[in-house]
Amino acid sequence: MAVDTSSVAKLDVEPGTLPETMAAWVIRQEREGEPKDAFQLEQIEVPEPGAFEVIVRVMAAGVNFNNVWASLGEPVSIFGYGDHPEFGHHIGGSDASGVVWKVGEGVTRWKVGDEVVIHCNQASYEDVEVHGLDPMAAPSQRIWGYETTWGSFAQFTKVQAQQLLPKPKNLSWVDSSSYGLTYFTAYRMLIDQCKLQPGHNVLIWGAAGGLGVFAVQLCKAAGANAVGVVSSDEKGELIKQLGAVDFINRNEFSGMMRRGDESPEEEKERFGVSRAFGKRVKEILGDAPDVVFEHVGQATFPTSVFVVKPFGKVVICGATSGFNLDFDVRYLWMRQKQIIGSHFANAYECNRANELIESGQIRPVLWRVMPFEGVAEAHQLMRENKHQGKIAILVGADEEGQGKTAEGPGAIRAEVGN
Ligand SMILES: NC(=O)c1ccc[n+]([C@@H]2O[C@H](COP(=O)([O-])OP(=O)(O)OC[C@H]3O[C@@H](n4cnc5c(N)ncnc54)[C@H](OP(=O)(O)O)[C@@H]3O)[C@@H](O)[C@H]2O)c1
Repeated sequence: MAVDTSSVAKLDVEPGTLPETMAAWVIRQEREGEPKDAFQLEQIEVPEPGAFEVIVRVMAAGVNFNNVWASLGEPVSIFGYGDHPEFGHHIGGSDASGVVWKVGEGVTRWKVGDEVVIHCNQASYEDVEVHGLDPMAAPSQRIWGYETTWGSFAQFTKVQAQQLLPKPKNLSWVDSSSYGLTYFTAYRMLIDQCKLQPGHNVLIWGAAGGLGVFAVQLCKAAGANAVGVVSSDEKGELIKQLGAVDFINRNEFSGMMRRGDESPEEEKERFGVSRAFGKRVKEILGDAPDVVFEHVGQATFPTSVFVVKPFGKVVICGATSGFNLDFDVRYLWMRQKQIIGSHFANAYECNRANELIESGQIRPVLWRVMPFEGVAEAHQLMRENKHQGKIAILVGADEEGQGKTAEGPGAIRAEVGN
């Protein structure tokens, strides 16, 4: 059935009542591939909330790299796990702002009509890790809208009540839909995993990307000195505006990128370029970095381990360029460096991080706002690394400024390169 997207922002049901079907962007296993083909519009049944669950009317949705992976079916197809076998479809989207539309049994903290932002971690209330260690350690832990269906690229989404956060009043629907996944991930990496302190020196890869724009701002807010790596001088100017001490254009050091099939001679040459890169980092920061903020993976990881200070930390949450990492481990043990794996954040961290957004100390960085029709194209742009900061999608909101109910600066617009 053709889906009429002209009426996505209109509903003919009152809060508390759900329509039978909704417009949704859907990935199915048989069309995994480039995002522009994998995502298609379909009319899908609206789910009912279970116990401790909430149905949120999506006003705007944020675009993340995880649904590039979901489209591609790499490194694994998402259809083998989460609730995908039960429903057979993937409605992606791990960031949203919206209105609580219907609450399930047991929900007391939120009511119909509340304006919310959604964090993307789900875990079963019954797992003991949730009640003492960390929900991120629970066997049931899943990223909503990636490892589960019923994500935010639809008129309604189904989430656990614990995923809701108050929507910052000084932000519009699109501004508030755009930051959760990457900002909360960066917050856990730097603040909790690395115990970021004033005066720390930090090297940030992909500093103008979704994670990077928040890592830079967190360093600035914590009194740490950040140098960001980017692939154009325009992106460099953006991150200086966000508070980085300076930037390095990685094209000047392209020889340091690890492919994984280097001959010993090539590896020696590659290492020479990493060394020169490390020298540049020291010139900018005055010393080697205490922390390296990693998510690029294979291409950059040997350089990260090499350049971080003795006893320093390489914190990693992703591997865009490849997840089989190899590096010279002597630089790790002889200089007593640490590698820390990190994945999203728990609800407590999300709430604390959200307060910094509410107070305007950290701001969303928006590159583009696209209509609901733009979901596939937005992911394709991200796949091709043509974006900066974040992309937001209008769903229930039909204009950019809607949803802001208090004074405040709103999102920073990443206009360079637009
Ligand atoms: N585990 C988690 O909780 C979690 C959370 C968020 C993201 N992630 C993962 O982390 C990765 C980055 O996410 P993101 O939202 O920041 O993506 P993004 O918006 O695409 O930004 C990533 C940045 O990395 C740089 N980059 C990409 N490929 C590179 C390469 N081969 N060599 C050097 N730099 C490269 C690009 O910057 P330049 O071109 O300017 O250098 C790009 O802007 C993704 O793989 C994502 O799935 C994981």
